[in-house]
Amino acid sequence: VEIAAAAEHLLRPPRPQPLAGKRVLITAGPTFEPIDTVRGITNRSSGKMGYAVAAAAADAGASVIIVSGPTALATPAGCDRVDVTTAREMYDAVMARAPQSDIFIGVAAVADYHVVNQADHKLKKDDAGPPTIMLAENPDILAAVAKLPKPPFCVGFAAETENLREYAQAKRRKKGIPLLAANLAQHAFGRDDNALTLFDDAGEHVVARASKEVVARKLIEHVVLLMSGR
Ligand code: C5P
Repeated sequence: VEIAAAAEHLLRPPRPQPLAGKRVLITAGPTFEPIDTVRGITNRSSGKMGYAVAAAAADAGASVIIVSGPTALATPAGCDRVDVTTAREMYDAVMARAPQSDIFIGVAAVADYHVVNQADHKLKKDDAGPPTIMLAENPDILAAVAKLPKPPFCVGFAAETENLREYAQAKRRKKGIPLLAANLAQHAFGRDDNALTLFDDAGEHVVARASKEVVARKLIEHVVLLMSGR
């Protein structure tokens, strides 16, 4: 049986490689913004969707770099990975590589703010009461990549909790990107499956609920389709 399975694998027609020769840069996972030496601000992104997109791009023949926030996931076969912690580290790692990339896909759930008055020791509970945490805005990595003089083809993700359609096209235009994949956060975070609505110049396209692997493959197919029409 094993020999038959191996033979079948060998005899299967090769998968099409529509992204052969393309360099794809992907952000994935959460960011972690330290408050002190042991605590921080983060979010519930598992990184699964970003890693599935990376695997799908590699499967389509691309050379893939994942700039990853803290996750427990293994690097997909054929992908390179750069580990970062904070949004500003993610920004630096992306901006160093984006000009040489053909496609940028921002899947990371980047924290909107970082702590300005980060403590260099573990904060103690004391009589002074709760500490005041001062926040400052993080750079928008996706918008910055889209503003490069010769930007890669940029794809954004939007996790909303309501009014998906209304927010999605507005967000796509505001960030200046050709494609935005939107989902409802409560249907996506930490799960193994997802459903997406893709928003582009032509309108919206539904990617039905399926495993993140299948959804990622469909997203990559849509990117290939849009890029072929350019
Ligand atoms: O504005 P919002 O955070 O909802 O946008 C989500 C999209 O923008 C995602 O693709 C995310 O990876 C990207 N993003 C980013 N840098 C930020 C915030 C979001 O690249 N600081």
